Amino acid sequence: MKILGIVGSPRKGSSTDLLVDMVLQGAVSRGAAVEKINISDLNLAFCTGCMECRQTGVCRITKEDSDDDLAMIIEKIARAEGLVLASPVYMRYVPGQFKNLFDRLVSQIIITPGKNPPEIKCRIQGKRNSIVIAACGNPDIKMATETLEFLKNAAFVYGNGGTVVSELALGGLMLPGQINLDKRKLLNLASNLNIPEPAVDNMIKQYKSIKEQAYQGGQKLASMKVDTFSK
Ligand SMILES: Cc1cc2nc3c(=O)[nH]c(=O)nc-3n(C[C@H](O)[C@H](O)[C@H](O)COP(=O)(O)O)c2cc1C
Repeated sequence: MKILGIVGSPRKGSSTDLLVDMVLQGAVSRGAAVEKINISDLNLAFCTGCMECRQTGVCRITKEDSDDDLAMIIEKIARAEGLVLASPVYMRYVPGQFKNLFDRLVSQIIITPGKNPPEIKCRIQGKRNSIVIAACGNPDIKMATETLEFLKNAAFVYGNGGTVVSELALGGLMLPGQINLDKRKLLNLASNLNIPEPAVDNMIKQYKSIKEQAYQGGQKLASMKVDTFSK
């Protein structure tokens, strides 16, 4: 079983990055081979909306720029039997860099006209189950609703209708890698934000719990049969 994690946070070592690591560690414990891509490592020009891909199935930028990473990502998705899509919430949605990846991946979608709702198929063969993760600054995870919907839709399309095995959301995140910070640093953050001290113990419990859920989600993802997987 091969599992690909894609981290949509532009900052490395971020909470979404760390949660993807936890999922992948869980998957490895069940024998999976794993790989992770960080959006900030990619060379992806913006989609120009030329719509050439609707005719050809190939993005024009891919043809013109040999340094562009879209073809490499398509190849990695094609090889994967499980997907982990993780994103911070930016303006209630996914960061622009991450959104652009999916704009570019529209080249891999075939929409059958005349159907209501429209029938969407993916050119990248194979069914993939998935895990989606969203992290937001607001303590209320309702702020992550649209981001999770975006990720679930992407997981459904690029997983060819595979199951979303686990959906994780965490709020109240400000600092890079906050879910791994020690109590002293969290107390410092709480004091800067006027958060009462006792709330820090709850934060620590919450972070422990979501990391466990991520790890267990990875185990589940790696253990599930993807019966219709074909290359
Ligand atoms: C440009 C920008 C926009 C943001 N917009 C929101 C938002 O709309 N709602 C929210 O709750 N948090 C928002 N945040 C906070 C991030 O969602 C939060 O810091 C999150 O933890 C970042 O995830 P990361 O630590 O994995 O990078 C925003 C942060 C940035 C930098």
